[in-house]
Amino acid sequence: MAVRNAGQYSTSNGAGTGAAHAELVGRLLDAAAVGERDQVLDIGCGAGGSSRIAARRAPQGWVLGIDPSGPKLRKARSAAADAGIGNLTFEQVDVQTHPFPEGRFDAAISHCGVMFFADPVAAFANVGRALRPGGRLAFVCPQPAQECEWYVVPIAALLGIEARPQQVVSACPGQAPALFSLSDPVRIRQVLGGAGFTDVTIEALHVPRDAGRTAAEAAEAFLSAGPARDLVERHPTLTRHVARARLTTALQPYAGDGAVLLPDAQWLVSARWNGDMIPR
Ligand SMILES: C[S@@+](CC[C@H](N)C(=O)[O-])C[C@H]1O[C@@H](n2cnc3c(N)ncnc32)[C@H](O)[C@@H]1O
Repeated sequence: MAVRNAGQYSTSNGAGTGAAHAELVGRLLDAAAVGERDQVLDIGCGAGGSSRIAARRAPQGWVLGIDPSGPKLRKARSAAADAGIGNLTFEQVDVQTHPFPEGRFDAAISHCGVMFFADPVAAFANVGRALRPGGRLAFVCPQPAQECEWYVVPIAALLGIEARPQQVVSACPGQAPALFSLSDPVRIRQVLGGAGFTDVTIEALHVPRDAGRTAAEAAEAFLSAGPARDLVERHPTLTRHVARARLTTALQPYAGDGAVLLPDAQWLVSARWNGDMIPR
């Protein structure tokens, strides 16, 4: 596989916080039309990278980042404090069921935090009720696994097979099904329509994934979260030491200019909350 689009994103400063990530979040905020006074909900905010960018976009507004993970939120709070961002708070909640005040937010955004719901229609309806009527939802989620080189390359390396997308997906059929649960645009429209959203748009993006500064750092990042970590944890014989070595070798061709950039394919989805048909 070839490395695409790498040169324009060469200013990485580490996993998930480099120029590629900032570009993707910028596109996300544009899709949600986040303005300087907006009240914004960031769903599945993780360590808060997208929340911080959103807070800077809405200096007279306010951003609430939510995530069920306590450790991630500790990082998020600490990074926001270090950056001196005052209009940003975080809460440890499950967006599927949390009783948000109705109509509290102008916009809801998510960078890859909406694929993990047990009942996606109910979860998105809960998000909708937190939006004012006509409020905007925008999220980024992965296209099918075989389109995502950031997925195919590490999984192939760990399995010791060639990085052919279809072969990797067939060799790992149960791998990370939740991660790709919204990879079909027909399904996205069904879920959002069922939850009470209208004006759904879905745009294909190909912003590379910034995995770290070096191949070794990127290997560590893949081992600490996501499908590669899950595979190693479930694998009966693969040790962390061997996994780290395989990943580092496989990621080396993608390193350059202080960043490891893996080609990626995302959907950028936007929709509007139709407050007239609030599902209960
Ligand atoms: C792939 S990570 C993305 C994190 C972050 N948005 C980013 O881009 O770095 C997915 C996040 O969604 C969160 N998440 C999963 N289920 C959730 C739920 N029901 N409510 C809120 N967040 C959830 C996870 O804890 C995780 O932090």
